[in-house]
Amino acid sequence: MACKGAPSDPVNEEEDLFHNVCARCHGRDGTGGPPDPLGNPGPKNFTDPVFQRSMTDAQLRNAIENGNRGMPAFGAVFTPKQIDMLVGHVRKFDPSRKAAPAGSSSGASGSDGSAPAQRL
Ligand code: HEC
Repeated sequence: MACKGAPSDPVNEEEDLFHNVCARCHGRDGTGGPPDPLGNPGPKNFTDPVFQRSMTDAQLRNAIENGNRGMPAFGAVFTPKQIDMLVGHVRKFDPSRKAAPAGSSSGASGSDGSAPAQRL
């Protein structure tokens, strides 16, 4: 009962999305990676509070939806609710926000249970 592994758990879906789709570039721990061979900059370190302060939620969302250089665009891949989750997940890497209770970051994790995530 205290186990968080249920597939319908929204927190779990959020982690699955990040781990399955984003982590190959951003790392499971969100610390980013090196520049790619095409000369695009590598993903930044989400655990850096300076990075977190430099981006608004709208900017994070825009980057995820529309991409940027080495960052693919996911606006057509995920539902707006899933993108909310991903913005929330990026925020969870901020060490200065560790105190916040899990799942409270974006008001959008509702319970309408729409659109399964697995597409990639
Ligand atoms: C193919 C590798 C790749 C994948 C997959 C990827 N990203 Fe990125 N992402 C990048 C790179 C590279 C940048 C930096 C782009 C730049 O600085 O111009 C970036 C930038 C970002 C940014 C903007 C902040 C920054 O670092 O400048 C956010 C937010 C982000 N990614 C979130 C995500 C999320 C969420 C996912 C999963 C849905 C994801 N990324 C998947 C490579 C990737």
